[in-house]
Amino acid sequence: MKTLLNLRALLIALGMCALSVQAQEAFKIGLILPMTGQQATTGKQIEAAARLFMAQNGDKVAGRKIELIIKDDGGIPDAAKRIAQELVVNDKVGVLGGFGLTPLALATAPIATQSKTPMVVMAAATSIITEASPYIVRTSFTLAQCSVAMGDWAPKNGIKRVVTLVSDYGPGIDAERFFKERFLLNSGQVIESLRVPLRNPDFAPFLQKVRDLKPDALFVFVPSGAGAAVMKQFLERGMDKAGIKLIGTGDMTDDDQLNDMGDGSLGVVTSHHYSAMHPSAVNKKFVEAFKKANHGMRPNFMAVGGYDGMRVIYEALKNTKGGQGGGDALLAAMKGQIFESPRGQIFIDAQTRDIVQNIYLRRVEKKDGELYNVEFDVIKEVKDPGKTK
Ligand code: DHB
Repeated sequence: MKTLLNLRALLIALGMCALSVQAQEAFKIGLILPMTGQQATTGKQIEAAARLFMAQNGDKVAGRKIELIIKDDGGIPDAAKRIAQELVVNDKVGVLGGFGLTPLALATAPIATQSKTPMVVMAAATSIITEASPYIVRTSFTLAQCSVAMGDWAPKNGIKRVVTLVSDYGPGIDAERFFKERFLLNSGQVIESLRVPLRNPDFAPFLQKVRDLKPDALFVFVPSGAGAAVMKQFLERGMDKAGIKLIGTGDMTDDDQLNDMGDGSLGVVTSHHYSAMHPSAVNKKFVEAFKKANHGMRPNFMAVGGYDGMRVIYEALKNTKGGQGGGDALLAAMKGQIFESPRGQIFIDAQTRDIVQNIYLRRVEKKDGELYNVEFDVIKEVKDPGKTK
């Protein structure tokens, strides 16, 4: 009897030991990012932002240590999916995050669903993404959100005939569609819609065509990192001097590249959710700290998506006492979050799990000797207009 009691005591002690080990185990966040290849700046910006967030907010939430794992998908969808599987099965991450391109997010969505792991999309911006898994929450933006704003602004500002030029994949097709729909509604005319390949695009033949068509403006969407090439070739062809205005979503005048684009970019108007020049105390603090931690690098909209994504994860961990209740509890705690981001007030719509945010109209201007997207108008609390249900 005594030995049995002892055995029981031993088993209880072992059980408690296992419990306390579990309590002390780190909560792992797996970020899958393009750290190499064409989209490498997206990975660099999001990694820097995630590390800044942790430096500012500590690596413990509700008493639980947080471990950040960053993996390079090279911009390849199959790699993103394989890495997600490894992170979930081997590393036992509690949350997946990152996703620098739409195809990377779409390839990974089934892993999030099967493993019931919340997946925070910090960069990719095609409307359909949040519908690919009920475990997806987005802290970036959608092209539909931004493009509608430009479809309203352009015709009110003397732009009646437009050619659109977009990267030929999800976000480009959304940008083309939502700009065009709104622009036509406002009596504008889209005289040609051009699509360029995502990989290694050569803009020259497309821009030549635009020059021959002589529209009032060229509307452009290219992903982060490709804007400088468009700007350079647009200016080299003297298209601005031929009276063609350059407009688009703010991906083109990306803060990561803008200051190197030269004075030819002055006056370019874009619509977007974030500018490093956004005039708020929260943003000033963010930009200063980001630059200080990263050898003067200016944060772009990708960095803000990453920074806010980490905040959504941290808040969810706080509200679940360190992730108790697993993926479903965390997901529930992510829905409906509302807070002031460096871009302004944001809200995670509990129903769609997508971000609701302000969209700004901005003009490239010189401030303190540097080129910036200076906001001059705002459309408040824009929901994604691209949801199919
Ligand atoms: C996507 C990627 C980008 O770099 C960007 O600026 C917008 C959208 C995407 O693939 O979804």
